[in-house]
Amino acid sequence: MKGIIFTNFADFISDSFGLVAWQNVLDDTALDADGCYVGTMTYPDNEFMALFISACTNCQRDAVQMQLEFGRGLFPILLSKSPEEVKLIDNLKEFLFSIDTVIHVEVKKLDPEAQTPSLHCTQLDEKTVCLDYLSSRGMGYLAQGLIEGASSHFNENTTIAITPSESPEKFKIMVHFI
Ligand code: HEM
Repeated sequence: MKGIIFTNFADFISDSFGLVAWQNVLDDTALDADGCYVGTMTYPDNEFMALFISACTNCQRDAVQMQLEFGRGLFPILLSKSPEEVKLIDNLKEFLFSIDTVIHVEVKKLDPEAQTPSLHCTQLDEKTVCLDYLSSRGMGYLAQGLIEGASSHFNENTTIAITPSESPEKFKIMVHFI
């Protein structure tokens, strides 16, 4: 997992629950290094998962709630690091269709170590878009939180529903435009 996810998770926990809470999370987790992360570096996925589980325990949040809240706040930060053509998009639907075809493609061109999820997008009817999340990280609720953050950013009125599957790697995310 890229350092940018670690550094923003550290900021999210420190800002929402206090610096002491983040220190407790670090103290309760077996880490390879000292818990200082660099955005451009890559760290083991299992280290992020261990920090995430420790944060849920220390901050008394369930894993779903924690991913949703983290994702909502992470969206504006990732957007600010997007290619210029992405920053020009002015509506949610176009943005959703560009995640798999432009955004994550550009991310991987710039950093071949990045492992982004697959988020295949389909227009189901005039008002509904379906995203098929697939990733070994199984962070579908983080994707939902990011989409909720995107919906607020574009000031669009939506309902967003997620359905887990029999596989922990796959989720279906329905975005309904009201
Ligand atoms: C609503 C929009 C977006 C959604 C739903 C989304 C979804 C996700 C999810 C769920 C992950 C966690 C890893 C995983 O599940 O396998 C991820 C990773 C990532 N995304 Fe996106 N993303 C969005 C927008 C963006 C934007 C705008 C950028 C621009 C820079 C970006 C760059 C990245 C990077 C760098 C990673 C880390 C990859 C790694 O750790 O190897 N994403 N994305």
